[in-house]
Amino acid sequence: MRGGLSKTFAVLGAAGLLAVSACGNSDDGGGSGDTATKDVTVFTWWADGGEKAGLDGLVSVFKTDCKDYNFVNSAVAGGAGANAKQVLANDLQAGKPPSTFQAHAGAELKDYINAGQVDDVSGLYKDFGLDKAFPQNLIDQLTVDGKIYSIPANVHRANVVWTNPDVLKKASIDATKAPATVDAWIADLTKLKNAGVKAPLAVSKGFAQEMLVEAVLLGELGTDTFNGLWDGKTDWAGANVTAALNKYKTLLSFTNVDRESIDWSDALGYVNKGQAGYTLMGDWVAAQQLADKVPDSKYTYWPSPGSAGTFQFLADSFTLPTNGQNPEGTKCWLKTVGSAEGQKAFNTKKGSIPARSDANAADYPKYQQTAMADWKKDKIAGSCAHGSACSAGQNNDILSALSQFSGAQDVAKLQTAFGTAMKTS
Ligand code: GAL
Repeated sequence: MRGGLSKTFAVLGAAGLLAVSACGNSDDGGGSGDTATKDVTVFTWWADGGEKAGLDGLVSVFKTDCKDYNFVNSAVAGGAGANAKQVLANDLQAGKPPSTFQAHAGAELKDYINAGQVDDVSGLYKDFGLDKAFPQNLIDQLTVDGKIYSIPANVHRANVVWTNPDVLKKASIDATKAPATVDAWIADLTKLKNAGVKAPLAVSKGFAQEMLVEAVLLGELGTDTFNGLWDGKTDWAGANVTAALNKYKTLLSFTNVDRESIDWSDALGYVNKGQAGYTLMGDWVAAQQLADKVPDSKYTYWPSPGSAGTFQFLADSFTLPTNGQNPEGTKCWLKTVGSAEGQKAFNTKKGSIPARSDANAADYPKYQQTAMADWKKDKIAGSCAHGSACSAGQNNDILSALSQFSGAQDVAKLQTAFGTAMKTS
């Protein structure tokens, strides 16, 4: 675990995790906010399904522990914050921050810090005993000049493939065994197509395609070379990247034609309904299966081909926005987020594992028990799609390149666009 975290944040650090900036202090009177309000407006993109179930878990603890305050749900629907991030950027720009908002640990958080939009919460770590609850190396890595800017709620895994064993049976494929390589996966997809499954790999728009291409790069390049793509140590122009992107192109040929118009939960629906054999998605899928009451026997999961032994991580955290409304109420929310009870209520429903080191695996569903074990022993990779490895600006450039690629399928153009995006901050 400790080793894993060191590696995690070596990745983040290299990508420029946290930079110093002069930030305001919400203790000074609440800025533009109405200091009398009891409302704590919580901005997320966890608007429905398993994601909302996770948020509801957190809210139930907040309602017990923070009776003086009202939870106000400011969720904006759309996977990975596809719509929420723009709404939030506009609100922050207009000087109308929510009481708190979710932000990914890593480069994405750095954007908010650099813009002076979030306050230092290191004092809260002391007040709430979080410096003891989180592993010391995690705290060290989240600390810049003695300041910490958010409280992590969880750790999610990105590099997971989810299957429908009944569909795979049509081509005599064993759903419990991960193909060892991307090529082996392509061979299985071909078998499924030949067995009459038209679009065996379900994928959705935007960030889901980004996750798929990241998974291919991770599987083909290996963990260290993959991490180097985000911290400048690996050349985006290399022949190994070209070869991986060509495999990504091949994978796209097995996907549903409506991939530009559906969200990740729709793609999962195709798998659950038997229209597809696989979807690659983060482990919020486990939460969705729980919310939809899909029995454990109806799906399997494994690390994306070629990435066994690597945990591609991201972490959701909550902030104390500069000049946000009701900073005292917000601190109570942050206390709930960091608490053992809050993390349990949230993560048992959210598909993620707790950021705290004192959780009891037996309290968690089967999927999270396997994720907890892997997190302790696996190598760690970052994720651009979920903010641990690249900034919001870089991510937006990559998303638009991928959306063009979904139509034109020009590998050389995509490869150049990746390189250019990562040279721009
Ligand atoms: C990620 C977020 C996860 C989950 C996912 C899908 O960015 O960290 O918690 O919400 O998007 O919406």
